[in-house]
Amino acid sequence: MVTKMTSKEHLDEVLASYRECPNPRLVQIMTSLTAHLLAFVEETGLTRDEWMSGIEFLTATGKKCDDERQEFILLSDVLGVSMLVEMVNQKPTDSATEPTVLGPFYRPGGPELSMGDSIAPDDSDGQPLIFSGMVRNASGEPLRDAHLEVWQTSPEGFYDVQDPALDPMSYRGNFTTGVDGRFFFETVRPVDYQIPTDGPVGVLLRTSARESWRPAHTHFLVTCAGYKTLITHLFDASSPHLHSDAVFGVRESLVVDMNHDEASFDLVLDVAGESPVN
Ligand SMILES: [Fe+2]
Repeated sequence: MVTKMTSKEHLDEVLASYRECPNPRLVQIMTSLTAHLLAFVEETGLTRDEWMSGIEFLTATGKKCDDERQEFILLSDVLGVSMLVEMVNQKPTDSATEPTVLGPFYRPGGPELSMGDSIAPDDSDGQPLIFSGMVRNASGEPLRDAHLEVWQTSPEGFYDVQDPALDPMSYRGNFTTGVDGRFFFETVRPVDYQIPTDGPVGVLLRTSARESWRPAHTHFLVTCAGYKTLITHLFDASSPHLHSDAVFGVRESLVVDMNHDEASFDLVLDVAGESPVN
C-alpha cells in the first residue's frame, strides 16, 4: 500500500529544491520563510477562499504602490515587521538612544540649515517649538560634525509629499554640530496624524477594528563618522495615541515634554561596531 505524503515530507521536498542554490544566506532565509509559511497554513487550516483573499490583498497592495506611495512598507509597518527589523538591526547599547522606524516619508537631500534656523515655513500656523540638546557618545563626550536630518508633518498632519499646498522640503532640515555637539532649531509642535487609509492597509485596519493614528513625533536621522547611524523619533508626551501607535514605534525613552515651547533631548550614539549588529 502506498503511504500518503505527510506535511513534513512536503516541507522537506520544498526545502530540497534549494539544494543547488549557491547563496547560503538566501538558502537560510528561504528555508526559514518556507517553514514558517507552511506551518502557518497548517496551523490555521487555511481555506482555499482565505488563501485567495490573501492573494487578492497582496495584489491590491502592489497596485497601490507608485513613486510617491509604498503600500508594502505601510503593510510591513502595521504588521509590526518594520519595527522588529530596526530592533534586530540597530540594537543600541544601554546608554545609547533607542531607535525606531524610519517610516515611509524620509527624503534625502533636505535643506542644510544653520543652528537656530526653523524647519517650518514662515507662514506656518503651528505652535512654535524649539528642539535642543547635544549629540554625544555614551561617555558624555560631545560629537562634532554630527549630521542631523529632521522631518515632521505640518500642523495639519501631512508630510510635504502628501500635501500639494506645501512646498517641497517643508518641515525638513539638516543641521551639523560644532565642537560642543549642541543642536537647537525652531519648528512647530508636531501633531498626531493618521497613516494613509485609502488603500488595502486601511481596509485591513478597519476590518480589524484597529487604530490608524500615530502619536505626534519629529523624526531624526543622525550620522557621525566613527559612530552608528541613529534613526529615531521624539514623541510628544501629551499625545493620546502613545499607547496605540498604528506602527508600534513608541519607546518610553523617546517621549519628551513639548508643553512649554521647548523640547530638550540628548541624542546618544554608539561607536561603530560596538553592538552585536553592524
Ligand atoms: Fe512620521
